[in-house]
Amino acid sequence: MGTPFISHLEPTRLDGYDRTRPYYQQPGHVPKTFSDAMEVREAVFVHEQGVPLTNEHDPDDARSCHWVMYASVNLTTAPEERDPHSGEVIRPRKSETRSLPIGTLRIVPFPHPPHPQPGGRYVDNVLLDDESDNEKKGDGTAASSGTARPRARTLTSVDEERQASALPFGADRPTTYHDGKEPYVKLGRMAVIPEFRGHHIAGQLWRAAKKWLEDNPTFFNPSVTELGMDQLKVGVAGDIPKWNGLVCCHAQESVIKLYERWGFKVDEGMGKWYEEGIPHVGMFLRLHIKEGNPKV
Ligand SMILES: CC(C)(COP(=O)(O)OP(=O)(O)OC[C@H]1O[C@@H](n2cnc3c(N)ncnc32)[C@H](O)[C@@H]1OP(=O)(O)O)[C@@H](O)C(=O)NCCC(=O)NCCS
Repeated sequence: MGTPFISHLEPTRLDGYDRTRPYYQQPGHVPKTFSDAMEVREAVFVHEQGVPLTNEHDPDDARSCHWVMYASVNLTTAPEERDPHSGEVIRPRKSETRSLPIGTLRIVPFPHPPHPQPGGRYVDNVLLDDESDNEKKGDGTAASSGTARPRARTLTSVDEERQASALPFGADRPTTYHDGKEPYVKLGRMAVIPEFRGHHIAGQLWRAAKKWLEDNPTFFNPSVTELGMDQLKVGVAGDIPKWNGLVCCHAQESVIKLYERWGFKVDEGMGKWYEEGIPHVGMFLRLHIKEGNPKV
């Protein structure tokens, strides 16, 4: 494996992305970096963990920043050929170097849907009916494609907001590390393909994202000139939501220790819930950012 490198994609229009199809069947205008992120996410979350393909891409993808790590891999395209009698090489091995996407993560800007309900079971961001949820046992396995698919209850307005990922600023329930109001960004969709795990690929991706956040603390701050005070639902300029270094992640229970190594702490007040059948907890980290000029 050659020296890995990381690409960064800022929020981008993903109109026409068809979530029922895999990354290689998407319209040509989808940025290559995003398609590569989806290649990794599909390999890990869809094929390895059993999350339905249609639930992997979501409306947050277009408004998020994505990081993708590549490895330069030398692949043999035609093997060496030798003369069977003399053993002499009659055609040397042909190879080519390709950049393979091997890891990814994304940072979702605020505002976010409400924190998940403790004990709640979510499929595609929708809270399920308890009685219909007879398929998942809370043992870390993904919802299977068995006969009794969990049934999403009728969407409430809150669910619709979850799906649209567009809550008003500062309207959440308070938890251990979040007062329900402070804007936070969300680290998510972190995945490394199995062959490359244990080589600090996730660590390098997180360090790249963390440095970018520290260098660009005002990037996600809403612009009053673009949105207007009404849409921001604030009365005076001092109330304009401003990011102050708070990062959240919805961590699969099995990787809590990894996030703890990076300084995240489990938010007991958020409780435990299930996304696509996989147990999750909320974790928070405060980055120390320098005071920047808010985008107003
Ligand atoms: C979780 C995942 C992204 C880690 O990728 P990785 O490149 O192997 O991780 P790293 O090598 O950067 O590990 C960073 C540190 O966490 C540790 N670590 C990695 N996976 C761990 C795990 N599952 N549990 C506990 N510690 C773990 C490593 O030992 C390393 O510690 P060190 O710095 O003391 O050596 C990868 O295993 C994966 O894709 N898993 C499936 C998808 C997934 O669960 N994503 C997380 C969703 S919340």
